[in-house]
Amino acid sequence: MTSVLVYGAYGHTGRFVVAELRERGFTPILSGRDAAKLPGGRPASVDDPEALDRAFDGVAAVINSAGPFAVTALPVAEAAARAGVPYVDVAAEIEANLDTFELATGPVVVPAMAFFGGLGDLLATAAMGDWPTADEVHVAYGLSGWNPTAGTLAAGQVSRDRRGSKRIRYAGGRLEYRDDALPTREWAFPGPLGTRPVFGEFSMADIVTIPRHLRVPDVTTYMTVDAANGLAAAGRRDAAETFVVDVVVRSGGEERRLTARGEDIYAVTAPLAVEAVERILTGRTRVKGVASAGEIFDAPDFLRALAPHITVE
Ligand SMILES: NC(=O)c1ccc[n+]([C@@H]2O[C@H](COP(=O)([O-])OP(=O)(O)OC[C@H]3O[C@@H](n4cnc5c(N)ncnc54)[C@H](OP(=O)(O)O)[C@@H]3O)[C@@H](O)[C@H]2O)c1
Repeated sequence: MTSVLVYGAYGHTGRFVVAELRERGFTPILSGRDAAKLPGGRPASVDDPEALDRAFDGVAAVINSAGPFAVTALPVAEAAARAGVPYVDVAAEIEANLDTFELATGPVVVPAMAFFGGLGDLLATAAMGDWPTADEVHVAYGLSGWNPTAGTLAAGQVSRDRRGSKRIRYAGGRLEYRDDALPTREWAFPGPLGTRPVFGEFSMADIVTIPRHLRVPDVTTYMTVDAANGLAAAGRRDAAETFVVDVVVRSGGEERRLTARGEDIYAVTAPLAVEAVERILTGRTRVKGVASAGEIFDAPDFLRALAPHITVE
């Protein structure tokens, strides 16, 4: 059976990834920094390259679900490259995503292969279809709420620190750091969610993954105000949210739209990451080296494979 190592295996997201691998007939190899939480696993700290090399010996691929990725992404991706195996991570930190995309190493490296970053990119790529360019991509997140995990909060803090508490957006063909407040507006989600107040330019990893390979000067992400407030209030994660990810692509006077629905943004990250690994290991990829989800995979086919976890219309 094919062994896939999960770094951060005992985290909230890592546990979903491990379960998904088992369900699909892979042998998960559990790794992370804390030996006490890894009985029978392969502990290795990110600042110990030799321990990482020992842990990665004989595995077919590595999924990194340990964040902050500012700390874990490069050492884990580099160890995967030394082992000569693909690396996939679930990083939602824009700055860490940018660093990983700069890596010139490893057979295949797919950062942000998760709910934020990966799914929006697959939807935008599929919505673009045969258009060679577009004027705008909009990715609107309609979350029923958001009780973040400790890992999400830590990642958010690291990102804010790295950008000096500025906010970031992708406009006019480049990333732009700004000091002004987030704009608010209403977004007309398809029913039953309907029209909701959202924060505009609430930038998620999609502003890195999408313009990396799609020729579009403006990529904007939106978040329902209720969900953004839940993130800010930072309670305990005691309930899963439902989500609608509404992607609109505009070119000239035309508009194309794809909408994904599902439940639990952490749980659905597992089928996204594991489907990616399965496709990489069976050669169902369009490019080699470092790539985003929409760039490396057949986006419409990938999205169909996510049912019933995520449905797209
Ligand atoms: N893009 C997306 O849509 C998406 C979806 C899900 C998760 N994520 C990201 O994935 C990360 C994990 O989230 P989570 O929900 O699983 O959080 P979590 O339950 O708090 O787990 C965090 C994991 O990271 C490990 N970790 C933290 N710092 C580490 C370090 N320096 N070296 C090695 N391991 C370290 C933790 O191990 P210890 O217990 O030993 O500290 C734990 O296993 C977060 O950055 C989150 O933003 C992104």
